[in-house]
Amino acid sequence: MCLPKVEIVVSVVVLVVMMGGLQEVVAQEETMCRGVALNMTDKQKGMITECLTESKIKSVWKIPADKLSCFGVCILKKKELLTAEGKLDHDKIFSYVEMVMKPDEVKKPMKDGIEKCLKEHGDKVQVKDDTKCMTFLEAGQCVHDVFFELCMDDSRRRR
Ligand SMILES: *[C@@H]1O[C@H](CO)[C@@H](O)[C@H](O)[C@H]1NC(C)=O
Repeated sequence: MCLPKVEIVVSVVVLVVMMGGLQEVVAQEETMCRGVALNMTDKQKGMITECLTESKIKSVWKIPADKLSCFGVCILKKKELLTAEGKLDHDKIFSYVEMVMKPDEVKKPMKDGIEKCLKEHGDKVQVKDDTKCMTFLEAGQCVHDVFFELCMDDSRRRR
């Protein structure tokens, strides 16, 4: 038995379209804080989805500890928040947070939290020649905890 070629092509097209649709749903869920959509363009949301896929993570709300650091580094690279030397670019990070964070009341505590993380763990970060993202381990975990604490909404908390 051999399937006519046209049917195979149609199946592949349908599959690709379905997967594309699925990705958009994922990105939507992944770019919210307290149930409010972050101020991100589709391109910026796409970067989050790409980094999740690259790191084999299902959701920003359930990141396995061993995958967190490289996911963070992926985001930093895609959003160009690093200096030419591979260090964290503090100015770019803070203006990025200012621009995308929603809801508004989260901006200040988010920036304060990230500032503390950078002060405590930021100097260690050197993503060049760090294929396993070890230098971002502490800073990444710290920023993740801040985001999680501030952005997880009550319905998620109860799960
Ligand atoms: C949302 O982001 C765009 C750039 O992507 C920026 O121009 C705009 O000012 C931002 N809006 C808010 C409310 O921060």
